[in-house]
Amino acid sequence: MPVTDQSAYDARLNAATWNRIGRPRSDRPKTMEWMFRTAPGPGPELLGALAGACVAELGCGHGAQLAGLAEHGIARGIGIDVSPVRIHRAATHFCDVDTLEWWLGDAVAIAPHLPPLDAAFSNYGAAWFSDPHRLLPRIAERLKPGGRLVLSCLTRSTGMPEGRRRMLVRTGPAQSMWTVRWMYSVAGWLRILSESGFATDYVFRPTDRVNAFWGTVVIQARRNLA
Ligand SMILES: C[S@@+](CC[C@H](N)C(=O)[O-])C[C@H]1O[C@@H](n2cnc3c(N)ncnc32)[C@H](O)[C@@H]1O
Repeated sequence: MPVTDQSAYDARLNAATWNRIGRPRSDRPKTMEWMFRTAPGPGPELLGALAGACVAELGCGHGAQLAGLAEHGIARGIGIDVSPVRIHRAATHFCDVDTLEWWLGDAVAIAPHLPPLDAAFSNYGAAWFSDPHRLLPRIAERLKPGGRLVLSCLTRSTGMPEGRRRMLVRTGPAQSMWTVRWMYSVAGWLRILSESGFATDYVFRPTDRVNAFWGTVVIQARRNLA
């Protein structure tokens, strides 16, 4: 399936914006959290058994969450990000962790080159910023039967049409730049997952005031057995 001009355009636009968005406060590996804003919720157990696993992160940013998984004994972790600034930072800060690799590029274009995976995840990452109808079937093809996909994102607000949205994000004081995100209701995400070859096992909707306001959702799915 060729990557369309629109998809490549969106990836370039997102890369330019994410190159400019904030450095993390810490360069330490992070414990996996799926919330938009910190709140009680599930952790890395959503990814299944991690010891000896091959795991890919779609839109890994500065890499701290994948680096946190290295401490759970994964055999191979592949962080993918479209932002050269972010991948450079991940590769620089976690270069001593020899189970981790950092791949620069659009997850949609890179996905077919991934090795067989035990798990993949997108933590407000590429599943939300690139066309999920293109990305998720490609990830399903790379996951071993029964392999897990976990994605977290914000859902569309009431009345917002589903699909591709251009949205401004703050990149600095008094400065904003465009990103493209793919906004769906929970039902919309479950439909796309099903069409892409996944069975959904678990949906978490936090009820704390801030995450509920933003429409945070965490979805755990599993590649259908062939
Ligand atoms: C909100 S940040 C999340 C980063 C990281 N997952 C975290 O939680 O810290 C979104 C990330 O997705 C990346 N991204 C956006 N579109 C992408 C694409 N098509 N392929 C790969 N990465 C992408 C951005 O560069 C950015 O680093």
